[in-house]
Amino acid sequence: MTLIDKIIKLKKEKNAVILAHNYQRPEIQDIADYVGDSIGLSRKAMEEKEAEIIVFSAVDFMAESAAILNPDKKVLLPTLGARCPMAQMLTVDEIKRWKVHYPLVPVILYVNTLASAKAYCDICCTSANAVEVVNSLDAETVLFGPDHNLAEYVQRKTGKTIIPIPERGFCPTHLLFQPEDVQVLKMKYPDAVVMVHPECSVEMQNTADFIGSTSQMCRYARKTNAEKFIVATEEGIIHRLRKENPRKQFILAYEDAICPNMKLNTLERLYMALKKEKHGVSVPEPIAKKARKALERMFELKS
Ligand code: 13P
Ligand code: SF4
Repeated sequence: MTLIDKIIKLKKEKNAVILAHNYQRPEIQDIADYVGDSIGLSRKAMEEKEAEIIVFSAVDFMAESAAILNPDKKVLLPTLGARCPMAQMLTVDEIKRWKVHYPLVPVILYVNTLASAKAYCDICCTSANAVEVVNSLDAETVLFGPDHNLAEYVQRKTGKTIIPIPERGFCPTHLLFQPEDVQVLKMKYPDAVVMVHPECSVEMQNTADFIGSTSQMCRYARKTNAEKFIVATEEGIIHRLRKENPRKQFILAYEDAICPNMKLNTLERLYMALKKEKHGVSVPEPIAKKARKALERMFELKS
């Protein structure tokens, strides 16, 4: 029996579902029950009724959100050490420091934060809905963290004053993309459409024909008539893009754009986590209760 067969068998026996982020290894995406971006995965986790176990193949903050939104389920991470470094960049103390200076200003946190930080915000957002979330608030100035590039993107799109907290939070993987690489690729593929994740620098965003979350990129690639795409986000997305659009061509804007944290998850680790029901993720209820409010407020927005 292959490892894939063993996982499928175990999944049935234990009544488990596998949710995987768009950056997961191809073989994990291929056995997952659902593959998506952070909002899609959170929604799936929140709405999951049947399964008793959710294997969340991604990084810490995403599994934490699933545990917060569906506290009755057992949420397992294939690798305990799969942590998003950006999420570690904003501490509760830092939020409190900013709130002293801006006591009446709402705090909006990207889901790429730890549950303890989410407990101190008014509402969460993802890269798919950050503009909509900020526009939904009756405030001209907001504190926004931890991604500085997403903050700048939201500022440009909303015209509001976005104060980034911390001042320069970033994703080390998206920092690797440089506009010069896009220029070179554009010489080779002049009719290619450029898709950029808002975690990339403003200079990279300026090269884009389309800016959006990972699943928004997938939707855009399916709908548009373009046949070639230069893609500026983590390389795992290329597998899904090619699978969904076999006749289209996808070129990664920087070949080594790999999130080492996302790639810590392997089929072997996923199998062991499910078999032994290890690496359970849970959030203490006093923190979960506050963080849940911020996440649910986001889901209450129409789209
Ligand atoms: P998405 O919500 O666009 O999938 O982004 C999550 C993430 O971690 C990007 O680096
Ligand atoms: Fe975090 Fe960046 Fe990896 Fe996304 S790609 S999980 S933001 S380190």
